This record gives sequence, structure tokens and C-alpha cells, in this order.
Amino acid sequence: MPLSDVTTAVSSVARRLLTKPPMAMPVDLHPKTAIVTGASPGSIGYETAITLAAWGARVIITTRSNTDTSVEKMRRELQADGFHHQLHGHPLDLTRADSVEDFVAWYRHTIGDSLQILINNAGIHADILGSWREPHLSADGFEIHWRTNFMGPMHLTRRLLPLLEQSGTVSEPARVVFVASHLHQKGLNSELFHASQPYNSWQTYGQSKLGLVHAAFELQRRYGHRNIQSYALHPGSIATNIAIRGLETNQRMQRLLQWVNPLQMLFMLTPRQGAQTQIYCATAPGLAGGRYFDRCAAAAPNPEANHEQVGKRLWDETLAWIDSLPSTDCGTGSAQDAARANATGQASTA
Ligand SMILES: NC(=O)c1ccc[n+]([C@@H]2O[C@H](COP(=O)([O-])OP(=O)(O)OC[C@H]3O[C@@H](n4cnc5c(N)ncnc54)[C@H](OP(=O)(O)O)[C@@H]3O)[C@@H](O)[C@H]2O)c1
Repeated sequence: MPLSDVTTAVSSVARRLLTKPPMAMPVDLHPKTAIVTGASPGSIGYETAITLAAWGARVIITTRSNTDTSVEKMRRELQADGFHHQLHGHPLDLTRADSVEDFVAWYRHTIGDSLQILINNAGIHADILGSWREPHLSADGFEIHWRTNFMGPMHLTRRLLPLLEQSGTVSEPARVVFVASHLHQKGLNSELFHASQPYNSWQTYGQSKLGLVHAAFELQRRYGHRNIQSYALHPGSIATNIAIRGLETNQRMQRLLQWVNPLQMLFMLTPRQGAQTQIYCATAPGLAGGRYFDRCAAAAPNPEANHEQVGKRLWDETLAWIDSLPSTDCGTGSAQDAARANATGQASTA
């Protein structure tokens, strides 16, 4: 591990032990509608959704699997705490274009055209041990972290932009929140379009999060005067399911985790604490977008994210890919193959 990573880890433990994490201030969200992707129990999306619903928003959650179970659990918690709520759920797999299209069609048919808050929270890091030597690919051939964390949210956002634009107003713009990570600091603009370094899932995770920070800034440049504000953030280091995904079959790690899990609360945030910065970005009155946030405050992003030409190119090329997709299924035609080749270099990582 490089010395800088060790220093960051030590300072984060010290900060965790010495300071209380900031909490977002309650805001009356009625009658706004919010989508929170990736809201499975134990995740920060779950805690985000439950807070927005408790504050009066109509909330739509997504998970990949067991969506109804997540909705029911959330409803029970809200009821037990005495909150009236409007909660809905629908499955969404961001790696599948047909799933994104299905979600958007379901949303328009069932919920309508009103949408004031979109929280692009769902994400993965499927190789916490960093043992993959080759990229794992999505069914349509992209590196899996890039596909899940960047391309899927871009596809979803693109399809929902007309709803956001018409639902926002000058005084209350709609908000798009991209849950990135401080690991976007690992990202390099030069690797966004053509990956040249040996494969490393931590690096690619960082690239996907750098892509999201660019997306937040570019969305602000394009839609900031059209009643939408856009934010990127680091939620903190949080004890969620993300770190244990992919380790289920590793017996040795399972045994180790039994010992480590009780200790992790010493240096990691709870999911509720970890949800605060995205809740803040989605709800704090008058909060100007086009910025990166950490601990409920504006923070400095990786300077790579300030290169407007890179953000513009990434947006344009990703949109060319999205616009080439059939609107009802993912398709495998030549338009998509061509877009796959030029949308990002991540697809051809070797
Ligand atoms: N935890 C941390 O320390 C940390 C730090 C920095 C950034 N983040 C970011 O915070 C976000 C939330 O992570 P978390 O820690 O709450 O992780 P988590 O507990 O693993 O939750 C991830 C959520 O994303 C969903 N998801 C996974 N793959 C998906 C796909 N292909 N399509 C749609 N949804 C998918 C999962 O649904 P299923 O359960 O149905 O699979 C789950 O609801 C992620 O973007 C992550 O990168 C987390």
C-alpha cells in the first residue's frame, strides 16, 4: 500500500474517533418525488431513502434483487416510527440497458412525470481483495465497475433528464446527486478513454468514480441554467455490504470477518451516518451544484475533474453510446459495437 494511502487511512481513523460525523438538517420535502438507486437493507441507499421518506418525499427505491422485501422492511420501519410515507420500489440492474429502459417506462407509467431528486447511489466494488488480474465484463462487454458505476447511472440520468428539467423550477431546481468516492482521487483523465495500465479493480473503481465527478460537473454546466443542480460526493468509509460482496465463497475471509466486523465500527461510519452527505446534497436549501462534497460540506475534488474539455468529451461520447441503444432492449447491433469501441477505453482494458 502506498504511504499516501496509509496516511489517509490513519487520518480517517483519527477523525472518526475524535469527531462526530455531521448530520443533514431535516427539511420538509412534501410534495417532492425522489429516486434512490441501490437501496438494499444495510446500504447507505436504504438509509437515504428512509430519511427522505420520513421527511415527506414520495420515494422510489431500486435494488437489483428482492426489491419488494426492501420496500416492505422500509415501510415497517417508517410505520414503527410513526411516519406517513409514500414508498415504491422497482428492480433495476444498471448493467443492463433493457432494465434501465424498463425502469424508466415503469416510472412514467406508475409514478408519472414528476421527479425533483435523483440520487445515483448504486455501485459496486466487486474485488475488494484486488485479486483480479483480468477485467470481469458485463453481459454487453464492458469492464464491470465502469459499466455499473458510471455507464448505468449515465444511462438512467439521461432518460430521466426531461422529467427533472420539467419538475425543477428557478427557485427549487431539481437535483441530481452522484455518489462517487474519495477513491476518485486515484482516477486519471488519460485512462478514461483508453485504459493503458495493467488491470487493477481498485484503479478502475476510482476511474468510474472520477467519471461520476466529471458527469456531475458537466451536467451542471449543461443544465444548471435549466432548473437542475448537480452534485458529486464522497459518503465516507461506511460499514455496508459493499466490502463483503464477492467474499461470500472465501471461507478464510469469512472467518476473518467474524473477528473484524465488531471492530470496524470503531473506524467506519454506520450506514445512517454515511447517508448524510447525499441527503444534504439532495435537500439542503439553496445549495449550489457543480461541486464535490464530503462530510456535508464542499470539498476539493481530484484536479483531473476540473478539466472541462475532458468532462465534455466524456459526456458526449457516453451520450452517443446511450443514444445508440434501442429504447426497449439492450440489442447487440453494430451501432452498439461501434459505440462500445469509442464510448470509453474501459471496455477494452487488458
Ligand atoms: N461503503 C463505503 O465505504 C463507500 C465509500 C465510498 C463510496 N461508496 C459508494 O456508495 C454507494 C453505495 O454503496 P454501499 O456502501 O451502500 O454498498 P452496498 O451496501 O453494497 O449497496 C449497493 C447497492 O447497489 C445495488 N447494486 C449493485 N449492483 C447493481 C447494479 N448492477 N444495478 C443496480 N443496482 C446495483 C445493490 O443492489 P443489490 O443488493 O440488489 O445487489 C445495493 O442496493 C456506491 O456507489 C459506493 O461505491 C461507498
